[in-house]
Amino acid sequence: MWVWRPKMENISPNDGTIRSASTTQYSLKEVSMHSHYSSCWITIRNKIYDITDYLAEHPGGAEIILEFAGYDATSAFFDKGHSREAIKTLEKYCIGELTLDDRLYAEIFPATSRCSS
Ligand code: HEM
Repeated sequence: MWVWRPKMENISPNDGTIRSASTTQYSLKEVSMHSHYSSCWITIRNKIYDITDYLAEHPGGAEIILEFAGYDATSAFFDKGHSREAIKTLEKYCIGELTLDDRLYAEIFPATSRCSS
């Protein structure tokens, strides 16, 4: 079976972060370092969002998002039943995708739209 392997020169030796020509990939370890009000990343179906600048604007408050800061917020985000508008807003904050080894879901979200970072 053919398996995609990143070129070794694209892998940072310290954190496993992979920078490819199309989309930046980060390891879950790197994501977990951004678990604060001053730097808040979450993952939703394998995509990574830096929502630091959105925390103060979130209609549900910052605290509820901070519970998932640095980790996967897929269930929390979808269980709440966010609107189409909320999903559009979310996409503005996409900064990359999880490295293949750290993916928790079979597909990215939305499957048709890759992150432009
Ligand atoms: C990480 C987990 C998240 C949880 C648990 C959560 C929870 C909530 C809750 C409870 C509300 C309702 C507030 C109210 O009606 O008073 C809400 C509303 C909203 N949230 Fe979140 N939220 C999360 C992440 C996000 C993210 C990442 C975004 C966008 C970047 C977002 C955008 C919105 C918007 C636009 C609304 C207004 C209602 C809507 O359009 O759906 N939320 N959220």
